[in-house]
Amino acid sequence: MKIGIIGNGQIGNVIANRLVTYNHEITFGVRNLESNQKVNPIFNYVETKDIAINNELIILAVPGNAVDSAVKNIIEIDGKIVIDLTNPIGEGLKLTRGTTTSNAEEIQKIIPKAKVVKTLNTVGLEKMIDPTVNEEKITMLIAGDHDDANLKVSNLIAEIGFDPLIVGKLYFSRYLEPFAMIRIEMVRVQGMNPNTGIKWMR
Ligand SMILES: NC(=O)c1ccc[n+]([C@@H]2O[C@H](COP(=O)([O-])OP(=O)(O)OC[C@H]3O[C@@H](n4cnc5c(N)ncnc54)[C@H](OP(=O)(O)O)[C@@H]3O)[C@@H](O)[C@H]2O)c1
Repeated sequence: MKIGIIGNGQIGNVIANRLVTYNHEITFGVRNLESNQKVNPIFNYVETKDIAINNELIILAVPGNAVDSAVKNIIEIDGKIVIDLTNPIGEGLKLTRGTTTSNAEEIQKIIPKAKVVKTLNTVGLEKMIDPTVNEEKITMLIAGDHDDANLKVSNLIAEIGFDPLIVGKLYFSRYLEPFAMIRIEMVRVQGMNPNTGIKWMR
């Protein structure tokens, strides 16, 4: 599949490297094309606004407080699937949005004809590289309003090694984003081993 990733940072590159091993073609959408171009010859680079033109699915991997500006000028985004893996984290590792809305819901308002799917926000870099613990697949929670998009994302999540679980409509993102804070707090603040993940037993 042709996949676009907005955000050429830590998580964007980890996911890109993982997806190319499954023969997906990756294009990064970047703010400064000149300085980002040819950073890695196995990827393509375009301006963020053009990321949807040749890509079927877009992954948003920018800082949580940059999502609104990152998506607002994208052309040909209507009908495209947008995976939002961001967490709205501000100063002192505190959530800047929550309870009554979420990053994913706010993104959907800015690009109402795209199909926003929330997922991949509840694991850290280490488990994005290897989505297992003691050979058990980590469960990856998925939320979105469009069944076809949820299914496509679920298949992609399974392909890269997670145990996907569609939990509900996009408004579930207001629960999934705070949920990510449990891991972030335990690993980054309390120093817990990052080789951890949740398993939804069923
Ligand atoms: N790190 C993790 O373990 C992890 C796990 C799950 C989810 N996440 C989420 O993933 C997101 C990215 O985290 P990260 O650790 O990869 O951050 P990062 O290394 O700081 O990378 C962020 C990237 O976003 C780009 N960017 C910023 N604003 C932009 C905009 N308006 N338009 C286009 N690109 C923009 C930056 O590009 P410039 O070079 O132009 O500044 C940078 O390449 C966060 O929301 C985080 O909560 C992270």
